[in-house]
Amino acid sequence: MQDLTIAVVGATGAVGAEFLRIVETRYPDLPKLKLLASSRSAGKHISVGGKDLVVKEATERSFDGVDLAFISASSAVSHQFAPAAVAAGAVVIDDGSAFRMEETVPLVVPEVNGADVEWHQGIISIPNCSTTPLVMAAHPLHQVNAIKRIVADTYQSVSGAGGGAMADLREQSERLLNADSNTSKSGEGQIAYNVVPQIDRFLDNGYTFEEQKMRQESQKILHAPEIQISATCVRVPVYVSHSASVHIEFTRPMPVDEARDLLRAMPGITVLDSPEGGEYPMPWDVAGEDDVFVGRIRQDISHPNGLVLWIVSDNLRKGAALNSLQIAEELVSRGRLKPKHTSGVTG
Ligand SMILES: NC(=O)c1ccc[n+]([C@@H]2O[C@H](COP(=O)([O-])OP(=O)(O)OC[C@H]3O[C@@H](n4cnc5c(N)ncnc54)[C@H](OP(=O)(O)O)[C@@H]3O)[C@@H](O)[C@H]2O)c1
Repeated sequence: MQDLTIAVVGATGAVGAEFLRIVETRYPDLPKLKLLASSRSAGKHISVGGKDLVVKEATERSFDGVDLAFISASSAVSHQFAPAAVAAGAVVIDDGSAFRMEETVPLVVPEVNGADVEWHQGIISIPNCSTTPLVMAAHPLHQVNAIKRIVADTYQSVSGAGGGAMADLREQSERLLNADSNTSKSGEGQIAYNVVPQIDRFLDNGYTFEEQKMRQESQKILHAPEIQISATCVRVPVYVSHSASVHIEFTRPMPVDEARDLLRAMPGITVLDSPEGGEYPMPWDVAGEDDVFVGRIRQDISHPNGLVLWIVSDNLRKGAALNSLQIAEELVSRGRLKPKHTSGVTG
């Protein structure tokens, strides 16, 4: 990884910042980094691993000499720059929903379907930050006892909506604590002291696009279009980490002890499940962690083949930046990503 030249489009965003934090701790000998954002951020300085780097405006010509382009901005930005990056010879790892469901684009969580990177044609997508923890937990269980149906209710933090939504929560909370009833309703609306049962736009069937993403993306990653999935995605006043209450129906009964053992053996999962001792994952504790945490594992008393899980993961790390870097590592380990150039383009 250290030999690569990596362009980060969206380097000033919530995910971009986490990406850079992970890069500096995971690869002490830094790869060559090219930090890109909109014209608003051009000239801004960001320190990565003790090096002072300058953000440049992303253009179609930004990708010369780049081996890997991580794009984390918006669908429009992905559509604008991904083809240019691929044309320049870079592999694109895209963080948005622009390409996820395209047949020629692998959608990858390395612990689950890492081999899918083999058939990429230049672009690899990462899933939505609520999909990733779901498939991480579902995969080892599905391998031994086919899943028929999943019902998932999420409790998603404001960082999932970007740096602007985090600022909204802070500002609205301060105003409320100061008894200022003139609460601002910027960004996603009133989120402090509130719960919002809408993430992304509504579709004709009454579900939101976020809920559709959880269903379609999970089916694609698990290679299991037959699994029925219904989600309700809810924004809660938490800064970082998404939680989900997940009800899974299997083909046959799934003993709790067997499920716990399977989840413990899954790379990237930590089981934290001693409810009587007050041990279960919570977003406050999981923020900053790489693993997906699972607890409250119990038999679903409403169905003989049912299991209930409580899943929490850091949406900025495994839900976005870390997963992207793990995909890059998967490509490198398979010999599918090699440095093309030796000249540095840092800063
Ligand atoms: N947050 C999560 O948990 C999460 C998880 C998975 C996927 N994602 C996806 O990741 C993407 C970014 O999310 P975020 O939370 O980091 O958002 P964010 O905090 O709002 O940051 C957006 C980034 O995009 C950049 N940008 C905007 N317009 C641009 C342009 N025309 N050219 C180049 N860069 C541009 C911004 O640069 P400026 O500073 O110059 O405006 C900023 O760096 C979204 O597609 C989101 O769906 C997010």
